[in-house]
Amino acid sequence: MLSDNIRRSPDGTLFFAGQSVIALAKRHGTPLYLMDEDRVRSNCRMYLDAFRRNFGDGALPLYAGKAASFKQMYRIMASEGMGVEAVSIGEIYTALSAGYPVERVYFHGDGKTEADVRFAMEVGVGCFVVDNENELRLVNAEALRRGRRQKVLLRITPGIDPHTYEAINTGTVDVKFGVPLETGQAFAFVQEALLLPGLEVAGLHCHVGSQVFDEDVFERTLDIMVGFMSSLYRTLGFVTRELDVGGGYGVRYVEQDKQADIPGRIAAVAAHLKQLCADAGLPLPFFLMEPGRSIVADAGMTVYTVSTVKHIPGFKRYAIVDGGMADNPRYCLYRAQYTVLNADREAADTAVFDLAGRCCESGDIIQPAVTLAKDTAPGDRIAVCTTGAYNYSMSSNYNRLGRPPVVMLRGGESYTAVLRESVEDICALDL
Ligand code: LLP
Repeated sequence: MLSDNIRRSPDGTLFFAGQSVIALAKRHGTPLYLMDEDRVRSNCRMYLDAFRRNFGDGALPLYAGKAASFKQMYRIMASEGMGVEAVSIGEIYTALSAGYPVERVYFHGDGKTEADVRFAMEVGVGCFVVDNENELRLVNAEALRRGRRQKVLLRITPGIDPHTYEAINTGTVDVKFGVPLETGQAFAFVQEALLLPGLEVAGLHCHVGSQVFDEDVFERTLDIMVGFMSSLYRTLGFVTRELDVGGGYGVRYVEQDKQADIPGRIAAVAAHLKQLCADAGLPLPFFLMEPGRSIVADAGMTVYTVSTVKHIPGFKRYAIVDGGMADNPRYCLYRAQYTVLNADREAADTAVFDLAGRCCESGDIIQPAVTLAKDTAPGDRIAVCTTGAYNYSMSSNYNRLGRPPVVMLRGGESYTAVLRESVEDICALDL
């Protein structure tokens, strides 16, 4: 199986996190997002342990909430001792209303508005990751208005190609995020920030991409970032106290994907950073990473019920389910791959199907060319694996479909963390 929280019972029923997927589908209905809380926690601990082993108290992983943001997730992050990064006041508000200590939130985003800055400062967000010069001035002005200094990190674009798909590459010089080093703009950006009295410039941030498997991507990033830190120290006397290198470790969606050895990679990154800083005569900065996908992806599974099956002889078979691009737009957006399984039984005689959704467009495909039981029929349950990241968080009400509930699985029990959206919920804001 793709992940060790997925297995089949002797009669062929699919089990996820030790529970029958069919029993869960009957109890909670479909489409259904399942989230293995035990796996979320063990993924957090993998980062926390690796950080502690390699940096002692000098590092913190921040969970990138954009991967899956709802209150229960922040309660889990608080109880595990994870930091959090947020990209909108919606995410901040969610964390705040879950009781997450907001002073541990790092606030990202390239398009923060004045209202966002005001809200975040009002509630006491710990650190702003400032994307651009305009935001520098906004944050400075708001801090001065409140008579305080706001801790910030400055987002730099290091000019790294992480070799992932284009829509989620964020490191190369021409992306919309951060301020590029290559053009000299990053230097001017830091220089300006240091002159602003409302800011406490704690350090630098960068993020080069997502679903990255390049083994040395963070080492290459550090070569550039520590080089920059060194020139800032030599020319401006500025000491980078915090260095945040973003998220990005890839996860396995299909059998052919590699399994990233994250603790091993973190050890190598730590050794590299220590060496670079020693060589440059710089103190080791407090080290941050922002994993999202690798915390929640393999903790997720989506369960659907087949509504209809269509066979167009000589062309195609479709299994059409009760969800689709509204709850998982990732194939439509990125041609993302997924592993799809019959949940009721192990398929003996198989056929190739396109797993299609119920939205009114031909492009509404959750995954093309998947191997399912040839006799897959209406009423069968289908599981799409590894949907914990960027599924619920990217879902929409397209076609006025309600979002599925998020049901958490913990120690053999299940409980609802997010309710199913009803038709009344969908109309709630319509006047
Ligand atoms: N930090 C920053 C500043 C980011 O922009 C991201 C992801 C992360 C951390 C977390 O990266 P992760 O560890 O999850 O790779 N919707 C796309 C992914 C977009 C990622 C955006 N930024 C997808 O479904 O693949």
